Amino acid sequence: MLTFTEKESLMRHLKNLKNQQVSIGFVPTMGALHNGHLSLVQKSVADNDITVVSIFVNPTQFDNPSDLEKYPRDLEKDISLLEPFNSKLIVFTPSISNMYENGLTSDTYFFDNLENEMEGKHRKGHFDGVATVVSKLFEIINPNKAYFGEKDFQQLQIIRKMVAQNGQKVSIVNCPIVREDNGLAMSSRNERLSTKEREEAAIIYQTLKEVKEKFHSENIETLNKLVTERFLPYANMQLEYFEIADEETLKSANSKEANKKYRAFIAVFIGGVRLIDNIALY
Ligand code: PAF
Repeated sequence: MLTFTEKESLMRHLKNLKNQQVSIGFVPTMGALHNGHLSLVQKSVADNDITVVSIFVNPTQFDNPSDLEKYPRDLEKDISLLEPFNSKLIVFTPSISNMYENGLTSDTYFFDNLENEMEGKHRKGHFDGVATVVSKLFEIINPNKAYFGEKDFQQLQIIRKMVAQNGQKVSIVNCPIVREDNGLAMSSRNERLSTKEREEAAIIYQTLKEVKEKFHSENIETLNKLVTERFLPYANMQLEYFEIADEETLKSANSKEANKKYRAFIAVFIGGVRLIDNIALY
């Protein structure tokens, strides 16, 4: 497994591979790898000759300095989890200065308002930071395919939009959410939960499943109330938002229309840890 810490040498190496018609898959990550990330790596390794995994905690997508500071980092463990993929893998671990040569700023993007819904409302500048770093990484790696998990469904739709707007050739592959045994969506942030919080966090997916079961028989207002009620008994949890939204536009829905695909989205604070999840309602 090759590891690169500088984009210049990685670009030279990939150029050689591309000249030999080698197909490149790309899995962008911020490290603290778990089985969700490994499922993306597995898919990419199966689909492509070589997979590049980037490990880079991107400062520009954090609106909260303490969240950035507390974001789990364990490069040694990450590398050991990737080692079994061996010769099929290249790991890219750039420094902040190598990625942001002209200063730590994001570009400003417009994605037909996808960026202003849900996470965009609650995390100022988040998607500008994500789009900035992902476009830098796409420029460096120039992959044939890039793999994104559905846990960050809004991010996935925004990356699709970005690629379409820029006429980029990379195909975006979405991969299903991987869950812990109790249903909690796998996330690097789960590491910051206590054992009790991790158990209690099962209520998030239980509630989403209940919404899915009742989606055809109940109206959206009733479902919104139901979700608020489900979190009331938990003094240590704050429901930041719950929305049923059109999967394409991500606009919150108050009523159901035929021929539209809906998805339920949720963000919850447990202790100081912010968790998100979503479920398709079809
Ligand atoms: O989903 C993530 O981990 C990050 O947002 C990404 C895509 C690696 C960009 O920093």
